[in-house]
Amino acid sequence: MAYDVTLIPGDGIGPEVSTAAARVIDATGVEIHWHIHEAGAEVLNRYGTTLPESTLDSVLRTKVALKGPIATPIGKGFRSVNVSLRKHLDLYANFRPAKSIPGVKSRYENVDVIVIRENTEGLYSGLEHIVVPGVVESLRVITEKGSERIAHFAFETARKYGRKKVTAVHKANILKMSDGLFLDVVRMVARQYPDIEYEESIVDATAMKLVLDPSRFDVLVMENLFGDIISDLTSGLIGGLGLAPSANIGDNCAVFEAVHGSAPDIAGKGIANPTALILSGALMLRHLGETQAAEKVERAVQTVIGKGEVVTPDLGGSATTDKYTDALIREITAL
Ligand code: NAI
Repeated sequence: MAYDVTLIPGDGIGPEVSTAAARVIDATGVEIHWHIHEAGAEVLNRYGTTLPESTLDSVLRTKVALKGPIATPIGKGFRSVNVSLRKHLDLYANFRPAKSIPGVKSRYENVDVIVIRENTEGLYSGLEHIVVPGVVESLRVITEKGSERIAHFAFETARKYGRKKVTAVHKANILKMSDGLFLDVVRMVARQYPDIEYEESIVDATAMKLVLDPSRFDVLVMENLFGDIISDLTSGLIGGLGLAPSANIGDNCAVFEAVHGSAPDIAGKGIANPTALILSGALMLRHLGETQAAEKVERAVQTVIGKGEVVTPDLGGSATTDKYTDALIREITAL
């Protein structure tokens, strides 16, 4: 069976890591027709927008996309393309697994947690205004509908991956109304999944507990900003941003991307670690039902990184992105 997938290379290291990811996925033998479309700062002058209609249309048509990172200016300037994409396509669930890779030096060897981040509301609703000069308000929107569907997604994920516990992460002691609503809804949904243990944890304490003992967590579900921060923390626990994959899932479309950004400091040098996007590609293969191919990719990553001979500088090696990708492809074709 052949699949149509939209490929958005992105900015900075995006083209380097997305080329690597597409090569590795192709090496599994799964037939993918890549539809390459642009988005980001570079296309603003040509299209008058950072997210061209043709790119959106392609994702709506193929229903699956692999996306490189896209830069967002800080403070002023255009709105994040990533946020726009998630809103336009209603990709409400952000799935961010963090699993230790043998051979990667990190604080722990046994991290295996999944962060589920609500992707469309919270403080990322983009609703900001000046109340009076010198006072700015950013609205943190939490809805019953948004909380209910992300809670279901978290419990369904726990079942699908054979997980035992879901932790709702919140700040309802201070944000009594918004996180109060979030918790009420998650509790209600939790009652529909008696086979999965349910607990709650305040976000600041969660950060501390994750650093001290990540094995006490399994699946964590939270609103947008908390999820953004906590999932970077869990990426750090497995050795850094170069290794952390993610999936943005909606009812109609799914966009797979690395947790990291466009890394302008190393862009164009050919030394970016493509593992995070490659593992996002493995999540994509699983989503397409190509489980064996996904496992091949994951095993190849574990073997090559485990040997430690051909790895990129962020992992202490001296291999280029291309050389590391070649090593993965050799491993996949030998499997
Ligand atoms: P970043 O993730 O791009 O970089 C942080 C640090 O990690 C840098 O030192 C970088 O060199 C390193 N790094 C990141 N990915 C790496 C990789 N694959 N291999 C080796 N080293 C890697 O975060 P930063 O600098 O805060 O953001 C840069 C831009 O990326 C910003 O414009 C930001 O808005 C955007 N961004 C985009 C995302 C997306 O498209 N989903 C996600 C996060 C940030």
